[in-house]
Amino acid sequence: MINIKMIENMVKHRLDKEPSGHDYQHALRVLNNATIISKDLEVDFDVIKIACLVHDLIDDKLEPQYKLSKKELNILLKESNCEQDTIDKVFYIIENMSYRKHQTLDSLEGKLTQDADRLDALGAIGIARTFSFGGAHKRKMLDDQENELTSVGHFYDKLFKLKDLMNTENALKEAEVRTKFMVEYIEELKRETGINKFRE
Ligand code: ADP
Ligand code: NI
Repeated sequence: MINIKMIENMVKHRLDKEPSGHDYQHALRVLNNATIISKDLEVDFDVIKIACLVHDLIDDKLEPQYKLSKKELNILLKESNCEQDTIDKVFYIIENMSYRKHQTLDSLEGKLTQDADRLDALGAIGIARTFSFGGAHKRKMLDDQENELTSVGHFYDKLFKLKDLMNTENALKEAEVRTKFMVEYIEELKRETGINKFRE
C-alpha cells in the first residue's frame, strides 16, 4: 500500500510556509480539483494523487529552502512504497505540466493533473494567488500603463487564456465558471479605479 499520509506530511513539511502561492494548501486544492474532474473517468488515481501533491516540489521557481531535487523526491516516493512504474508516471507529469513548457501531456492522468493545477489559478482563489505572487515578487498591483508587468496585467497575460487550454470537458466547465467571475472582477476593478484599460 502506498503511504499517502507520508507523502502529504512531507509536502506539508516542505511547503507549509511557501510564500508565492505554491504552498501545501495549493497542493491540497489541486488534489481536490483533480478528484472532482476525474470522477467517472477510468484513471490510475494513485498517480494523479501523488502528482498533485508533489507537483511543485522540484520546480526551479521555488526558493532553495522549499525545493527538493529529483533524486530526493524519488527516494521519498520509494520510501512511501510507490512502485517505480508509478514514480516514473508521476515524474513524467510533474516535469512536463508547467504553463511555461507549452506541453500537452500524453497520459490522461497528466491531462487531469495539469487541468487541476490550472483551475487553481482561476476564480476567487486565482485572484488571491495572483496578488500574493505579485506581492512576493514585488510587482505593482495595477497600473494604467498598458504594457507594464503588474498583477492585474497577469490576468491578460495568462489567466484569461487558461480556459481554452483545458484538456478535459469537466475542467473546461469549471474553468468557464471561474473565468466569468474574474471577468466580472476586472469590470468592477475598472469601475472603482476609473482605469478603463489595463492591457492593450
Ligand atoms: P502553478 O504552476 O502552480 O500554477 P505558477 O508559478 O504558474 O504556478 O503561478 C502561481 C500563481 O501565481 C498562479 O496563481 C499564477 O497565476 C500567479 N502568477 C504567476 N506569474 C505571475 C505574475 N507574473 N504576476 C502575478 N501572478 C502571477
Ligand atoms: Ni501548482
